[in-house]
Amino acid sequence: MAHTPHSVLEDRRCTSGVAGLDDVLAGGMPRDCFYLVQGDPGSGKTTIALQFLREGQRLGESVFYITLSETASELEKIARSHGWTLADMPKLELSAIESLLRPEDQTTVFHPSELELNNVIRLVLAETRKHRPTRVVFDSLSEFRLLAETPLRYRRQLLTLKQEFARLGSTVLLLDDKTDNTLIGSDPHVLSLTHGVIEMQQYSPDYGRSRRRLRVLKMRGVKFREGYHDYVIETGGIRLFPRLVAAEHHTEFKREAVRSGVDELDNLLGGGLDAGTTALILGHAGSSRR
Ligand SMILES: Nc1ncnc2c1ncn2[C@@H]1O[C@H](COP(=O)(O)OP(=O)(O)O)[C@@H](O)[C@H]1O
Ligand SMILES: [Mg+2]
Repeated sequence: MAHTPHSVLEDRRCTSGVAGLDDVLAGGMPRDCFYLVQGDPGSGKTTIALQFLREGQRLGESVFYITLSETASELEKIARSHGWTLADMPKLELSAIESLLRPEDQTTVFHPSELELNNVIRLVLAETRKHRPTRVVFDSLSEFRLLAETPLRYRRQLLTLKQEFARLGSTVLLLDDKTDNTLIGSDPHVLSLTHGVIEMQQYSPDYGRSRRRLRVLKMRGVKFREGYHDYVIETGGIRLFPRLVAAEHHTEFKREAVRSGVDELDNLLGGGLDAGTTALILGHAGSSRR
């Protein structure tokens, strides 16, 4: 397609596993980077993340799903609704983290949340290192933000994660609920810390079914397709419909007159209507517009 001038870079891209998204991203996400996927609950973040990891598995890459917001069985339920199984997908789930964070462990002079956050990060990084994953999903940042309590600590810990994942050579999707409009959640410095931001939306018009749309806010070093693109979630996952740009679908044609079949009319028009133009024919009912 004329839109993708990336043949040289193609091998270094991470394909998303979502139909249509790689076209929007001009071939996929650059590898070894740190991405944020933002969206309301139910907008499909977990689904897109699972597709991203399944694509990695299809390509023979190692993957890792870190979930602070769902248990492994909840995740498995989402996967089953799409006809997938996650039996062979390594994951670190809520209960493993919770057992580490039992209240009886917190008998130190540190503030509990500080201890919790450090423990969570230590556990997450230690488990991630074991798998040396090419693709990682972190679901979701909201819990992480609650533990951090202040914007400064949130940013610092995110930076730690970013550096550690970069060291491992992982491409990371961070999932984040947009409902949290606190100062910490909307910190623009956090957005600037990531290499790319994808926003997913679900909105309901006054009539009819609700619509879903996705927008790439930023993708470092990629000439992505800007604006909103509609998507649907169906059994089998998310399907994205890239916004059409007329200029990208130009076909060559001969500029010649198209004859109408009524010789007198064609003579009046100087041979006929011009190819590639649109003509409006007006007339009252019964005036034989054929
Ligand atoms: N098999 C399916 N077919 C159609 N839609 C589905 C299917 N499974 C889930 N969904 C839709 O996906 C939504 C949940 O997506 P999910 O990825 O869990 O969202 P998030 O992680 O952003 O909260 C549900 O609200 C539902 O509308
Ligand atoms: Mg989710």
